[in-house]
Amino acid sequence: MDRFLVQGGRPLAGEVTVACAKNAVLPVLAASLLTRETLRVPRAPALVDVRTMLDVLGSLGAETRVEEDDSVSVRNAGEPGTRADWEYVRRMRGSVCVLGPLLARTGRAEVSLPGGCVFGVRPIDVHLKGFEALGASVRIEHGYVVAEAPRGGLRGAEVFLGTPFGSSVTGTMNVMMAATLARGRTVIQGAACEPEVEDLGRCLRSMGARIEGLGSPCLEIDGEEELSGAEHEVIPDRIEAGTFVLAGVLTGSRVRVVGCRPDHLAVLIDRLWQAGCPVEHGEDWIESQPCGLGHRPRPTDVTTQPYPGFPTDLQAQWMALMTLADGVSVITERIYPDRYMHLAELARMGARVRRQGATAIVQGVESLSSAPVTASDLRASAALVLAGLVARGETDVHRVYHIDRGYQRIESRLSALGAGIRRVAE
Ligand code: EPU
Repeated sequence: MDRFLVQGGRPLAGEVTVACAKNAVLPVLAASLLTRETLRVPRAPALVDVRTMLDVLGSLGAETRVEEDDSVSVRNAGEPGTRADWEYVRRMRGSVCVLGPLLARTGRAEVSLPGGCVFGVRPIDVHLKGFEALGASVRIEHGYVVAEAPRGGLRGAEVFLGTPFGSSVTGTMNVMMAATLARGRTVIQGAACEPEVEDLGRCLRSMGARIEGLGSPCLEIDGEEELSGAEHEVIPDRIEAGTFVLAGVLTGSRVRVVGCRPDHLAVLIDRLWQAGCPVEHGEDWIESQPCGLGHRPRPTDVTTQPYPGFPTDLQAQWMALMTLADGVSVITERIYPDRYMHLAELARMGARVRRQGATAIVQGVESLSSAPVTASDLRASAALVLAGLVARGETDVHRVYHIDRGYQRIESRLSALGAGIRRVAE
């Protein structure tokens, strides 16, 4: 297990290019199960999670190919297998995205339940409700979801997919994918509006699916007999972009994040202005403005919400910024009320944070000091690296395999900006 040594207090400067969105590329690759032709994703991000998805697809019989520039092709010429094993699913919750396409293409899917995760229970009841609405029978057996289409295949239906915490991103994706091969029209109400859902919809359209309402909470899908192959350019990763912007802001440096979609990060840009940390942006770039190391942001509250609200996947990184604010800020988690694993680790670095239920109260301090800290999940790890960039001394971030799941070679990209960060094999 590798760790990062992060030398704090170095200003950053320069440009960093954002990779394709992890949470869009995973379902797009799963959509390859809907066709016997090839689906190609140019320049997929070189992430552990992408390799895991290719392993899952390979275990189902797909031919997978990764080119020199990381472009990925997947082809399921024959009938795919129907069972996605615990061995793969436990490595990554995103593997649950194979359920919908497998069920639609083969009439049967057996996919291991993903289990709990460090930031709480993450149910998939909404996914299953959607499949049942399409006529499937669904049961849980020996830790697996076993879903079977009725004789004659899935049939279109109306279904509401909201949850008490907003709409389910992968739930919407799963049901949307299943509906593309169902007979007749499916109407999904309460669909998630995240850009990753829209991106998957665009990919399905280029495979021949008929989908209306992308980006809205109501999707209408007219099922097709079969879909074709396609080449699909995945959207830039808004969470990776936001993380790099915050690296620039925290260090008071000018960092230009290029190849991103500022319109997907309107809420972050707004909050940063509110915090007295201006960022400029153009059509496909965002740039933090230099104000010098030690510049303290104004305390600024955020509440995580479904898109276009503040993303839960940037909550930990925002907290890293607020630990240095000139006053008290309040962070509220409305998506995953227990997603606060980074809190105790930030406290080890001198942050003053208290938690009350789904809310964290952050009393900004003048500076953080380095400490050995342990990464517990992907975004929490990113927050610890960000904190390390400004802490006094050398922060030792353990278990960085979490960060490798979602950020492509983050240490070399931060080093290229001037950060003092290196990977050490443990
Ligand atoms: N929920 C239910 N029932 C369901 C599904 C979800 O009650 O059947 C609840 C969840 O407990 C949560 C809320 O609905 O409170 C939203 O969960 P959602 O299903 O949208 O999450 P997800 O699809 O499992 C994706 C991303 C997460 C990201 C969330 C929220 C992927 C592979 N994962 O998860 O990304 O935090 O949406 O935006 O797309 C990450 O990248 O670090 C990450 C965790």
